[in-house]
Amino acid sequence: MQETTGSEAAVRISREGEVGLVEIDNPPVNAASRAVREGLVRAIDALEADAQVKAIALYGAGRSFIAGADIREFGKPPAEPWLPEVCNRIEGCGKPVVAVLHGVALGGGLEVALAAHARIALPGTTVGFPEVTLGVIPGAGGTQRAPRLIGIPAAIDLVTSGKRIDAKRALELGLIDRIEDGAPREIAMRAAREALAGALPTRRTGELPITPDNEALAEAAERFRHARPHLFARERAVEALAATGLPFAEGLKRERALFFECIDSPQRAALIHAFFAERAVARIPEAGAPPRPVESVGVIGAGTMGSGIATAALLAGLPVILTERDAEGLERGRATIAQNLEGAVKRGKLTAERRDAILKEALTPTLDFGALGAADLVIEAAFEDMGVKRDIFARLGEVAKPGAVLATNTSYLDINEMAAASGRPEDVLGLHFFSPAHIMRLVEVVVAEKTAPDAVTTGFALAKRLKKVAVRSGVCDGFIGNRIMTHYRKAADYMLLDGASPSQIDAAIEEFGFAMGPFAVSDLAGLDIAWASRKRRAATRPAEERYVRVADRLCEAGMFGRKTGRGWYLHGEGVEGRVENPEMLKILEEERRAAGITPRHFTHDEIRRRYLLAMIAEAARVLEEGIALRPIDIDAVFLFGYGFPRHHGGPMHYADTIGAEGLITGMEELAREDAYFWQVPELLRRMAADGKRFSDMNDR
Ligand code: 3HC
Repeated sequence: MQETTGSEAAVRISREGEVGLVEIDNPPVNAASRAVREGLVRAIDALEADAQVKAIALYGAGRSFIAGADIREFGKPPAEPWLPEVCNRIEGCGKPVVAVLHGVALGGGLEVALAAHARIALPGTTVGFPEVTLGVIPGAGGTQRAPRLIGIPAAIDLVTSGKRIDAKRALELGLIDRIEDGAPREIAMRAAREALAGALPTRRTGELPITPDNEALAEAAERFRHARPHLFARERAVEALAATGLPFAEGLKRERALFFECIDSPQRAALIHAFFAERAVARIPEAGAPPRPVESVGVIGAGTMGSGIATAALLAGLPVILTERDAEGLERGRATIAQNLEGAVKRGKLTAERRDAILKEALTPTLDFGALGAADLVIEAAFEDMGVKRDIFARLGEVAKPGAVLATNTSYLDINEMAAASGRPEDVLGLHFFSPAHIMRLVEVVVAEKTAPDAVTTGFALAKRLKKVAVRSGVCDGFIGNRIMTHYRKAADYMLLDGASPSQIDAAIEEFGFAMGPFAVSDLAGLDIAWASRKRRAATRPAEERYVRVADRLCEAGMFGRKTGRGWYLHGEGVEGRVENPEMLKILEEERRAAGITPRHFTHDEIRRRYLLAMIAEAARVLEEGIALRPIDIDAVFLFGYGFPRHHGGPMHYADTIGAEGLITGMEELAREDAYFWQVPELLRRMAADGKRFSDMNDR
């Protein structure tokens, strides 16, 4: 017998003898949408009422069991039946209910499974409670049922970390009862029969006793209280786990209340925005063009960036031809790659055998530029100088095979010029990686005037293969990220000259949630990098623009940050914590005096306000000029390339929490002291007039 539950195709019932089968089918990932929730309740109702059915089994169609609650529904009025009710209905069923998991059973998906009376997983299954990474907690009984199966300490670990574990680990913990290979439907049939025969023990998780562990709960609560305030959901998760001390039904109520506190928090909105940002950036106008096949990659330049890019490609299983101008540089690059791979071995991402095989077979270091003719895609990561790049692209245009994609990793320079030099501009684009390139997830795919659509999709496909987040950018000085950064870095320099110290600015920005403030980053990256771009721009710098010379003077004195032991701060042995470089302070004082500035006090709030307003202003211009497709693309750039705190969702999401009018008022106020720098972008004025937010522009 085959029937569909009412109008719901999302959950199908079938019956074979004494077994009632419930198939969840809500592509692509079987999220527990309203249709699924309704379908599950109807299925249990129908099968419980069916006298012929003696046992029930749940399983998923397609890729997964259930990927969790439908997070698109968060923030909207909750639609009944709620997931906790669905779970209670399953657990309360008078007939044994078995869940068969495959693909993923995450969050609400795992909660549905925990409400069943026994759980079997296919070998490749992943389970976990990723809720805290989305700013919520398990809200359908997860915090009450999981500890009854695996104990409080393991539940604290799972629920507060958001980590995903494999079936083997889930079995060790006791979260599932068995691992079995096969088709979910067949396993479901067998398991239900075994449950009937008593060969598969069944029980209601909510009725199991729980071993209290107040010490572990107190330790976890303390840990999150002292962590930075962005861990709102983690703190609530510990509170919910502590509610296991209450009777089960009371514990569920407490969990629910805490879940709604999280749903209402701005962190939840920001974290879910970040989740969707990672996926939204793949929607590009060129999406219809099939990417060109890439089976090998060429990298020009074996410096830090070139070696990092080569490492990323090698780790993704692509053979790499690496070329340099001289043997010494080439050997240095090979050594850096070996070191990077060693790091991957240490992190457990690579076996030592695989590393050896990669170095021996997949990496081809060569001084012969012509060898690049064998690569399907070549990435130039040579010295940041237009003359050098033009020359390389002219040669590449000749040696690269027809149809090979020619990419540059330039951070600022005009890709149209390189494209023209190659003689085959349709093949040329920017693939802008971030250092360290084998670790940082962002790649800006920079589309030049004549780049062919299938070259663009090839760039996106390569980024995906490298497990990176690709964001489409147009050509301008600095593309999306560095262009915006150059602007807000100026705001930081102005505050510096006017009275704030580097450590004060860094601390204010770190309190917002950035891992490092701008001066600490500058010391880490090397002051010489930004110095080179400032020198390049010097000739075109507008006369009205305020200019702060402190960084230039540090560079002129050979103080480039960490690599020279001195920069904004002191580095090296014996230096504990952040110690400002006394020579920097002396230069700063001289520059202040020369400009006739009496240093004034900045509060941390004031520092953050100026820094973020500058970021948002330039981001609005980048959007207005069409350099970024949508506000969410800018958010992705900053989340994945610049350490923007995920719990604030990205600069554009954050800007929406202020609103266009508030932003304009803030900028106009600052324009009274520097009208040139604090110009209000036209886009913001239009948004204010139309009552629009940046998020309204994300659908295009
Ligand atoms: N709700 C709604 N949509 C979801 C979703 C969810 N839980 N999970 C994934 N999707 C969507 C994605 O946005 C994407 O949509 P798009 O194609 O329109 O961009 C599509 O499904 C496919 O997702 P991916 O591109 O991520 O596919 P992958 O195969 O790479 O990954 C996955 C699949 C592992 C399921 C991954 O999507 C994932 O980790 N999803 C989130 C899982 C999660 O966090 N679940 C917990 C939710 S909170 C909860 O359950 C609360 C409860 O306790 C009450």
